[in-house]
Amino acid sequence: MHTGETITQFIIEEQRRCVSASGEFTALLNDVVTACKAISAAVNQGALVGILGTAGSENVQGETQKKLDVLSNEIFINANKWGGHLAAMASEEMDDIYHIPPQYPKGKYLLTFDPLDGSSNIDVNLSVGSIFSILRCPEGVANPVAKDFLQPGVQQVCGGFTLYGPCTMLVLTTGNGVNGFTLDHNIGEFILTHPNMTIPADTSEFAINMSNQRFWEAPVKRYIDECLAGKTGPRKKDFNMRWVASMVAEVYRILTRGGIFMYPKDIKDPSKPGKLRLMYEANPMSFIVEQAGGMSTTGLARIMELQPEGLHQRVPVILGSRNEVERVVEYHKKSS
Ligand code: AHG
Ligand code: MN
Ligand code: MN
Repeated sequence: MHTGETITQFIIEEQRRCVSASGEFTALLNDVVTACKAISAAVNQGALVGILGTAGSENVQGETQKKLDVLSNEIFINANKWGGHLAAMASEEMDDIYHIPPQYPKGKYLLTFDPLDGSSNIDVNLSVGSIFSILRCPEGVANPVAKDFLQPGVQQVCGGFTLYGPCTMLVLTTGNGVNGFTLDHNIGEFILTHPNMTIPADTSEFAINMSNQRFWEAPVKRYIDECLAGKTGPRKKDFNMRWVASMVAEVYRILTRGGIFMYPKDIKDPSKPGKLRLMYEANPMSFIVEQAGGMSTTGLARIMELQPEGLHQRVPVILGSRNEVERVVEYHKKSS
């Protein structure tokens, strides 16, 4: 049996170091962890319990929902609605915010989540995950509305994600570094296995959906062209490429061995300034990446400083190893 530190022990010990902590955050995180374990179990069962395939519905962003998108969303809601730690929730899969039912007490936090990230990978048995962010409910607000969620990423109390891969991993930051936990299925606990995760400043691995190349803007085209030119090009070294189509898997890889991930602005659909969602994907992942020593930007601005304008707002995302992200920012400056 593994005798390592459980995530609950880790959070309680963090809480003890903070004199003003009441334990409410610890209890909330426990409920989030329960949701992640339940989704992990569902993902692992797959076709055995008939949860692969599409649900026959669309989410607010016009994307076809998978059965597991819908199920994971319900799991998140049910695990977190009753505890008394939340004032409201918002999800990529729900048009409007979720109000805590009147029979339950309300708390001081707001939770946003992408219940299943990379869901195009479900039916082909590749990695998916969940992403979440915890914010404080603004002072004096008893019944939050959507605008109470529209806080810049720098105000996040916690950012985290799980990766349902060969192992189920949970990666977490509360603004004090990044720690990774592995789910021990035998005892049903996440165990601290990857303390203090850091992203190397340099890399020669990039991740981008190359099929969008003709729609990119000049700075991104230049950066990728130079990577592709390899040893004989201006960068004087060869690059490797990965694209899992699952942000959780890409960010986990970057936390493990470095890299740069980009879902940049493109002109494929001019009504969308990017693909990834600020509140459910970009902000929590940026918090983790920055806390691990990396950098996260739209190309023009630090993601965590953006003032959100809508719950489901999309943003360009360029994140990972600091020196490479800085280079892409430089190229943006030069071209504007
Ligand atoms: P989701 O499954 O929550 O909609 O997110 C998928 C996202 C992200 O995880 C991934 O990086 C990207 O979309 C993949 O996009 P392409 O299908 O364009 O490659
Ligand atoms: Mn997603
Ligand atoms: Mn999703």
